[in-house]
Amino acid sequence: MKKKNILFIHHSPSENTKKLSKLVENKIINVTPNVNLTILNLIEANTSSFREIDGLIIGTTENFGYMSGLTKDFFDRCYNDLKDKTEGLPIIYYIRAGLDGEGCKVALNKILTGLRWRQVLPPLILKGSWQEGYMKQLEKFALTFASGIELGIY
Ligand SMILES: Cc1cc2nc3c(=O)[nH]c(=O)nc-3n(C[C@H](O)[C@H](O)[C@H](O)COP(=O)(O)O)c2cc1C
Repeated sequence: MKKKNILFIHHSPSENTKKLSKLVENKIINVTPNVNLTILNLIEANTSSFREIDGLIIGTTENFGYMSGLTKDFFDRCYNDLKDKTEGLPIIYYIRAGLDGEGCKVALNKILTGLRWRQVLPPLILKGSWQEGYMKQLEKFALTFASGIELGIY
């Protein structure tokens, strides 16, 4: 089976969000051997990170009713160069939100629509006080996506 390439770009500013992004990394590496996973902090990601990728995962926090500043910064820097060159890219994203997550979701969805990326699973919003159960939810979410990419389903 030909290996598939998934890019995982995230902003994980706290202990909890670092646990979440580390989980995505470990599970995909261990459970989907035919996936090459590239992991970048959003501040390091640029348009060249998108060369030859088969799928994208974004992880962000919600801050001030919007995506985190570094997530916004990534789109500010890269939107124009990615537009019309990455059409149809399968993507999933998760949001860690202390309270809500909706503002971040709405803003991300607008950008993804503009880029014509394909959300193949509804976003995972992990909202409220931290719960260990988030880890299982995210594991299932990330592995469903990675397996789908690996098998060429998406
Ligand atoms: C400056 C700032 C603004 C925030 N604004 C929001 C917000 O608008 N909505 C929300 O749900 N959470 C908000 N939060 C909470 C963060 O989403 C949360 O702290 C982050 O996801 C990390 O989660 P953790 O506390 O489990 O590590 C904010 C946090 C900070 C530091």
